[in-house]
Amino acid sequence: MSDQPAIVVEGLVKHFGDVHALDGIDLSVRPGTVYGLLGPNGAGKTTAVRVLTTIITPDAGRAEVLGLDVVRQARQVRANIGLAGQNAASLVHRPRVLFLDEPTTGLDPRSRNDLWDMIRELVADGTTLLLTTQYLEEADVLAERLAVIDRGLVIAEGTPGELKARLGSTVLEVGFDDDESARAAVAVIGAVAPGGDLHGRVLHITVDDGPKVAMEVLRALDQARLSVGGLALREPSLDDVFLTLTGHRAVEPSVDGLADGDGDGDGDSVAVDPGRRPTATTSGGAA
Ligand SMILES: Nc1ncnc2c1ncn2[C@@H]1O[C@H](COP(=O)(O)OP(=O)(O)O)[C@@H](O)[C@H]1O
Ligand SMILES: [Mg+2]
Repeated sequence: MSDQPAIVVEGLVKHFGDVHALDGIDLSVRPGTVYGLLGPNGAGKTTAVRVLTTIITPDAGRAEVLGLDVVRQARQVRANIGLAGQNAASLVHRPRVLFLDEPTTGLDPRSRNDLWDMIRELVADGTTLLLTTQYLEEADVLAERLAVIDRGLVIAEGTPGELKARLGSTVLEVGFDDDESARAAVAVIGAVAPGGDLHGRVLHITVDDGPKVAMEVLRALDQARLSVGGLALREPSLDDVFLTLTGHRAVEPSVDGLADGDGDGDGDSVAVDPGRRPTATTSGGAA
């Protein structure tokens, strides 16, 4: 039993009219682990959970939970699984496989931490957990492995560390005191370090040689007589990974207070291409 995956998904497809909610996804979840299904609104997370929990049937492909086919052996699957959204109270039965669909969306940080603790206890007791989330930090903290899904497709799979290592680099963040300086600095910095992403008044740039680029950026800004509000070099987050993979940010409303994704410009992502005026991207849930 221990080598056999607790959940196997192969080529799973589910369309709703023209909407390709699942467009052929593959997953394999090791027993007794937390597997994260990470993606923005509309990515197909709930559809995947609904197929795996036998609520809906797939159009194509197959899925097994504990070796049981979710279509042909739906009743036996149901006897071994639990499904919960934000109400944790439904976890008393300690099922062998538990599905949590965005359990912490809308929770305050304290309740979220309580739930994280409970999840860790359940998994320590041997439960396998498939957790969907829009919060990159949550997948990073809880999941042994995760799949990043976008528009019904798995666009990346691995451990949080592997996904972050894909960037293989450092993130340079340059902050400005006002919007005007931030916009002016984008062009100046773009000439030295292209490919930045302006996020409010903070420009994020993925760079290979952080300290060297930081020096060059400061020099260029100094020459342009633009002052810097703050500068930081940090390890890439899963949000950076998502941006690199998809070209858009996953909406992260409250975890770090940056993107709120509500389109009002007070913290929404702005994609910056060198040589082009910055344009506000639509939030990750669009399309
Ligand atoms: N019952 C349904 N009928 C029509 N469209 C649906 C239905 N369920 C989901 N969808 C669409 O499928 C896509 C994926 O939805 P969903 O799986 O709920 O995404 P997520 O849970 O990642 O936000 C979305 O475009 C959604 O509007
Ligand atoms: Mg959902």
